[in-house]
Amino acid sequence: MAKKILYVDDDFALVRLAQKAFGRADFEIAHAPDPEIGLTLLGRGGISAIILDHYLQGSTGLDLLQILKQRYAQIPVVYVTGSSEATIAVEALKAGAADYVIKTVGEDFWPLLINSIEQALENADLRAAQERAEQEIRAGKERAEILLAEVNHRVANSLALVAALIRLQVASHDDEAVKAALSETQARISAIASMHRSLYTSDDVRHVEMDRYISTLASELAESMAKDRRKSNIVCTLDRLSITSDRAVSVGMIVTELLTNAIKYAYPGASDGEIRVVLTRTSDEEAILVVEDDGQGFDPEGPVQGTGLGSRIVASMAKTMGTGIRYVERDRGTRAEVQLDLR
Ligand SMILES: Nc1ncnc2c1ncn2[C@@H]1O[C@H](COP(=O)(O)OP(=O)(O)OP(=O)(O)O)[C@@H](O)[C@H]1O
Ligand SMILES: [Mg+2]
Repeated sequence: MAKKILYVDDDFALVRLAQKAFGRADFEIAHAPDPEIGLTLLGRGGISAIILDHYLQGSTGLDLLQILKQRYAQIPVVYVTGSSEATIAVEALKAGAADYVIKTVGEDFWPLLINSIEQALENADLRAAQERAEQEIRAGKERAEILLAEVNHRVANSLALVAALIRLQVASHDDEAVKAALSETQARISAIASMHRSLYTSDDVRHVEMDRYISTLASELAESMAKDRRKSNIVCTLDRLSITSDRAVSVGMIVTELLTNAIKYAYPGASDGEIRVVLTRTSDEEAILVVEDDGQGFDPEGPVQGTGLGSRIVASMAKTMGTGIRYVERDRGTRAEVQLDLR
């Protein structure tokens, strides 16, 4: 179907010529002798482009151009000016015209005008296609984020369910060693569940706010240990910082192991001495995580009281993060340090 071009010009004879010339190029010309008729025709729809003459009775094309750009921004306008009016042409372009053509008496006026209209239509099509593509990308990104949040939600809930099942199993056993082992497994699973929970409650699904995550972990752990009649006194001092979610799981596992050990071994007897978790940003790219207690201390090379699984988990998690774990000599108690990469 021929595309319809609106021609706004009070010169009837000229527009009749336009109708012939554009007709041969398979365009249909709708004539508007004044702006008002032009807007009425636009209101009916079906106009693909507009040719606008500068000189109109009682006004100029620039006045109408302003209205057109407000109401029909997506329809390209080619502006037609007299021969020596460069400033008007510039003004028309500034006001949003796609192009301008200088009106000449010679025969080359029509090919120039048709060519300009064809170009403008092509550009408008490209722009519309680009806009559609960008919109699709935006919508796709939003969908993916919602989906990811949903997945994290479900993973967190499922892991919490698994942890709860293990907690039930703890209650049904009499053997203290079995109870302790199951409790620790439950804590480990809960640490991973917490990480997923912190992912779907934040806007950024690729990073985890570590201060929030670690303090949640510490209080969940204290609560779960309390169920096994182990008191703990954990003090968190955490800088606000985020790390990538894969590293966050590793850090969460490490914190869980170190805290569990401190609660279990640092203060034998019923004492509830302080256990500190400190997260400090040391530069734009690095932070240091410290878990320390003032308890009886231990020799990292010495014999283990439990299974020794904790140390192996910590070592392997620290390795996947590309760092290691360091036990620092102190007069009393235990101090473990882990370097974190924030990039
Ligand atoms: N903060 C601490 N204070 C005193 N002793 C500790 C501390 N942390 C670890 N230990 C000692 O280090 C040993 C090794 O810890 P690790 O976490 O590897 O094993 P575990 O806790 O005994 O076993 P699991 O972690 O499987 O329960 C512990 O058995 C304990 O003797
Ligand atoms: Mg342990």
